[in-house]
Amino acid sequence: MISADIPHLDIDPYDPAVMADPYAMQARLRAAGPVVWLEQYGVYYVTGHALARQVLFDPTTFSSAHGIGLVGYATGLTSTTPSPLLETDPPEHDRFKKVMLRLVGPATLNRMRARFEPVAEALVEALVARGRFDAATELVTAFVLDVIADTVGLPQADRWQLLVFGELALVSSGPRNASFDAAVAAVKQHDTMAWVQQATDRANLSPDGLGAALFAAADAGEITSAEAQRLVRIFPTAAVDSTITTLVNGLHVLAARPDQWQLLHAHPECARDAFEEMLRHSLSVQTVFRQATRDVKLGAAQVKAGQRVGVCLAAANRDPAKWPEPDRYELLRKPVGHLGFGGGVHACLGQMIARLEAELLLKALAKRVSNIELDGEPVKRVNNALTSYASLPVRVTSG
Ligand code: HEM
Repeated sequence: MISADIPHLDIDPYDPAVMADPYAMQARLRAAGPVVWLEQYGVYYVTGHALARQVLFDPTTFSSAHGIGLVGYATGLTSTTPSPLLETDPPEHDRFKKVMLRLVGPATLNRMRARFEPVAEALVEALVARGRFDAATELVTAFVLDVIADTVGLPQADRWQLLVFGELALVSSGPRNASFDAAVAAVKQHDTMAWVQQATDRANLSPDGLGAALFAAADAGEITSAEAQRLVRIFPTAAVDSTITTLVNGLHVLAARPDQWQLLHAHPECARDAFEEMLRHSLSVQTVFRQATRDVKLGAAQVKAGQRVGVCLAAANRDPAKWPEPDRYELLRKPVGHLGFGGGVHACLGQMIARLEAELLLKALAKRVSNIELDGEPVKRVNNALTSYASLPVRVTSG
């Protein structure tokens, strides 16, 4: 039984052609209403900022425990196992979050700044000296991959496997389509699960990383060893691609907006503001799902217990009822209330880490580069969870 009083639409947000430019689709959905019914998948889909907040901030009514992808675990259609943090509800969720939050506090952030600021400076200096480089692969991916792997304490060898593993986690949030099949094939081809198993094994983690700290929490009896290993694996899935792709999208925007780049060049100390507006305007991550635990009114929709509700964070971040001229990137907008990191009890655990990474990279670039522009056609990267660029060739002028 579905609400008759909201629009029923035959739009597929997972169609690769739609994902390549999701903003046109999101505008159509939003014009139909802040919440619609998607015929093809039999789910509600929220694009309005106020309703998105209603869902995210009420985990009792809108549960994550059935999975945060399109298909709930109860259907048996999803092959992945639930994430111990993202796909649990309070109070179980809070037990894990408490342990994890301690790990990403000020002490870790200070250590990370000291360790990775010189890395960002050296990487940017070398690329800027060349004048032309791929901002997606050589700059952002190279940096983020090393920062996260080092911080967690993963072995040096074959860290690229994190990208293969991350892709599988991302596509698993959508329908079983071509991008899902490709990710499964890549994981098999590279024997990625064996690498992940080995890399996150306690014996192979460096003693000063966040992974070892999770096993120490297990020793202290806060969690079990098996839970510690599952929590270590959250980092490759949650921390790597989300940061890479949002930063790449943001650089793509800045390469087309000389006025905004010049502002950043003149004020490198605004690197964090630049990233915050990227999280609103250029968010790569698209939609998270919840499952209603009771009948509830959501805008004009009468949601029934058991029905699934998608929250399109990227669309809510461009809701004109929330921000003036939402399709414009404005570096100094200070978009308080954006949903780039979600919200409520599941708000992104690594948001301060992501902000730090972005600040270090953008500041190093802004200090040295007076102009940045595209140097060829970017190559799109789309999958069931996000939209970004696999390759972003740029030409920079130092000064
Ligand atoms: C630009 C980068 C990032 C973006 C856009 C992003 C986005 C998000 C979003 C939207 C959620 C909420 C999901 C939901 O409500 O269902 C989330 C949760 C989470 N993120 Fe991030 N994230 C980023 C970086 C990171 C990093 C660097 C880490 C780890 C170091 C991380 C770890 C997590 C974890 C563990 C959760 C689950 C929190 C919970 O369920 O309580 N993320 N992230």
